[in-house]
This record gives sequence, C-alpha cells and structure tokens, in this order.
Amino acid sequence: MAQFVVEGGTRLTGTIFVHGSKNATLPILAATLLVEEPIVLKNCPRLRDVENMIRILVELGCIARWEGSTLYVDSSGAFGYTLSERLSKELRSSIFLLGSVLGRFKKAVATYPGGCEIGNRPIDLHLMGLRRLGAEIDEDGGYICCTGEKLLGAQVSLDYPSVGATENIMLLACMAEGETVIHNAAREPEIVDLQDFLCACGFRVSGAGSSEIVILGGTRGHGCSFTIMPDRIVAGTYLTAAAITGGEIALIGAMPEHMVSMLEKLQDAGAYIRKDGARIILKAPKRPSELLRLETQPYPGFPTDMQPQFFALCSVASGISVIVENVFENRFRHAQELIKMGGKNSVRGTMAIVRGVQRLHGAQVTAHDLRGGAALVLAALSAEGTTVISCAERIDRGYLQLEEALCSIGAKVTRKD
Ligand code: EPZ
Repeated sequence: MAQFVVEGGTRLTGTIFVHGSKNATLPILAATLLVEEPIVLKNCPRLRDVENMIRILVELGCIARWEGSTLYVDSSGAFGYTLSERLSKELRSSIFLLGSVLGRFKKAVATYPGGCEIGNRPIDLHLMGLRRLGAEIDEDGGYICCTGEKLLGAQVSLDYPSVGATENIMLLACMAEGETVIHNAAREPEIVDLQDFLCACGFRVSGAGSSEIVILGGTRGHGCSFTIMPDRIVAGTYLTAAAITGGEIALIGAMPEHMVSMLEKLQDAGAYIRKDGARIILKAPKRPSELLRLETQPYPGFPTDMQPQFFALCSVASGISVIVENVFENRFRHAQELIKMGGKNSVRGTMAIVRGVQRLHGAQVTAHDLRGGAALVLAALSAEGTTVISCAERIDRGYLQLEEALCSIGAKVTRKD
C-alpha cells in the first residue's frame, strides 16, 4: 500500500515533460501479437498497467525487454491463447487482447474482466463485433471461449462509440479476409495512434479519428519501430495542477490538437493558455472561476478521464459549477473524499453540483480509482496543511512517478510505501 503525503499551498511553476500515452500503449501492445517479427516501441510509459499487459504477453510466450523508455517486444515465439485470469482481473483493459489472440491463434480464452470502481464496464459491444467477423464465442461461467477458423471482414455498427470495442474489432479485422467497416467508431486520438502503428506494421487501416474505420484484412504484418503519442490526460492533469495552485507552467511534448476541449475549459476557468510549438504555456489566476456546465462526452467532447481533476478545480472556484458524467455510471467517488477536505458538493446520479470554497484543508483521504486519485493530489496541492492520500498505487497505474514530476515544478509531495 503506497501513500502520497502532500504539503499544500505552493504555486506550481516551471517546465514539465509529458510521458507516453497509457491508453495508446495498451492496445498497441495487444497488436504486437499480430506480427511475428520484432517490434520497437519508443516513448513507452513504464506504468503499472503497461507492466501488467507485458506480463500477460510474456505468459503467452512473447519476449519483452526495456531500455529506458524504449520497449522491445518479439511475439514470434508466442504459443498461448489463454489470458491469465489473475492478470486479467488486475488489468481489465486486457480484453483488447481477445481480438489479437483470436486473430493470431484462431482461438482465445479469457475471463470476464468484470466491473471496476468507475462502472460495470460491460463488453457486449466487443463480443458483438468479434462475432460479426465470424468468431464463435461461448460465454460460460465467467469464461469467454472464442474460436475463429474462418474470419471474414464485415460491416460492424457500434451502438455506442466504445474505445475498447473499436480497438478490439480493428485488431481482429486485420486478420480477417476482406474488408471490414466499423460504423460509429470511437474517434479518440489513441485509436489514431493504433491505426498508425498497424499501418507501420504493413496492415491496411484507414479512417481512424472519424466515425468510420476501414480495415482491409489478409495482409501479413511485419516488424517496425514506432513512437507512442504523448498522454493527453497526463498533460491535462499537469495543467490542472498549475491551474488549481494559481501557478504558471510550460508543458513540453503534449499535442494541443488532442486537448482542445480541456484547454477551452481551463480558459473558461480563468487560465491564460498560449501554444508555442510543442510547448503549452499556462498562467493561472489566483482563484479559478466556476464552470457553469461541464459535461463528459466521447471524443472530441470533454474527456471523462479529466472529470475528477476538474471536479477538484471547481471545488476551489469562485462560484457554483455543474458537472455531468455521461460516460461512466460511478465516476464521482472522489466527491466524498473532497468533502473530507472541506469541499462542498452534492452528487445526484450523473450530476454533481460543486460550490467552490476559498480554501480546502488537509485530510486523510483514499484514492478509489486512478483519475479520482489524481484529483485528490490536485486538491491537496491547493489545500492548507498536509493531506495523506492512501491507495496511491492506483494512481501509479496511469502516472509515471507523479510525485517526482510535480516536485519538479515546486510541489511538496512525498511517497510512503
Ligand atoms: C477507454 O476505456 C479508456 N481505457 C478509459 O480510460 C476511458 O475512460 C474510456 O475509454 C472512455 O474514453 C483505455 O483505453 C485502456 P469505452 P473503455 O468502451 O474502452 C460502455 C483511464 O482512466 N460500453 O469507450 O473501457 C461502457 O459501459 C481509463 O485511463 C458498453 O456498454 O471505454 C461505458 O459506459 C478509465 N459496452 C462507455 O461504453 C461495451 O462493450 C465507454 O466505454 C463497451 C463499453
């Protein structure tokens, strides 16, 4: 069990670099199974979720080796098609592997990933898509047993633009004969990165970033070297940390074009933002302004993964904010923790009303989930006194040495294991 101990009250100032994207890396790691030649992934974040995905690949017979932030993966010797139950429970997004394992071995066995702290996380759209491509899937007693002797490209329409389902279908479609078109596909930048990786391996994929993705299957992939895109949620979290402390930082390595909605909302909250090439400069007012309306939506709408961080920002704003979470059904668990710090909020279903207070105060709080934990760190940075955040290992799932990164721009955060 890890804890973050945060001394609040310092303005964050300075320059900070953004590491590679967790949510681009995970599906790309799943995609390495489609290629029986060595792959080099640069700017790969050495996060808990990434390490767990690597463990699953190694159990399937892949070889993986780190050199700094470069990961060398070779799945040519992979033989397994049963995903580790223990690791799949720890990393529910390993469900992306269904498409690539099934595409590689024509069979795959996984356990139901189950829900998590933020919602039930069903996979019906994943399974519907794989079945459309010819997969035979038996769901029995918590296990998912797939076979796919004859995989054929198909038209697949998603009832909801699910990120994971879009990625799973893309991976299997690369190994199916003929053309697959995904309609109402998710448009997140991480899906464009997956497409770019698949194309670098010689697969024929186009349309990612739009609602219609076309995959021409039947080609044999080859090895490649690929650089992972920067993590837009980590970038947004750093900017929000500066905003909540009235600070001024330069963010290096982010892609502003991936962050339009969150940058606009930071400006609505009173921050001055300037883009200078690969740098984003943010200068925050002493106290943020309230956000009359903040609604999470699939990309390019405001990202659900930034909702908790903005909830913390609104907790010290100069008025009342209304936050609506439209993507996950249980993503307000940080609200109660912020109340322990003197926050004033009321949650009813998918809506939260947040009355900003002049100052939060330190407390003992718990990180219930990855982004909710990050939100508590931000709140603690602005709070008076000391805050102890337990279950900080949940934050490590998506942030590389968050305490060191924040200390590099003036924060006072220490880790206690
Ligand atoms: C990805 O999760 C991300 N994870 C999440 O980031 C992110 O919050 C989410 O996309 C939305 O942007 C990774 O990329 C590893 P979805 P995913 O399928 O794929 C419903 C983080 O903090 N749904 O787009 O699971 C589902 O219940 C994590 O980094 C179905 O109904 O998201 C949810 O309400 C958290 N049936 C909505 O779609 C399905 O088969 C969005 O889920 C699949 C999803």
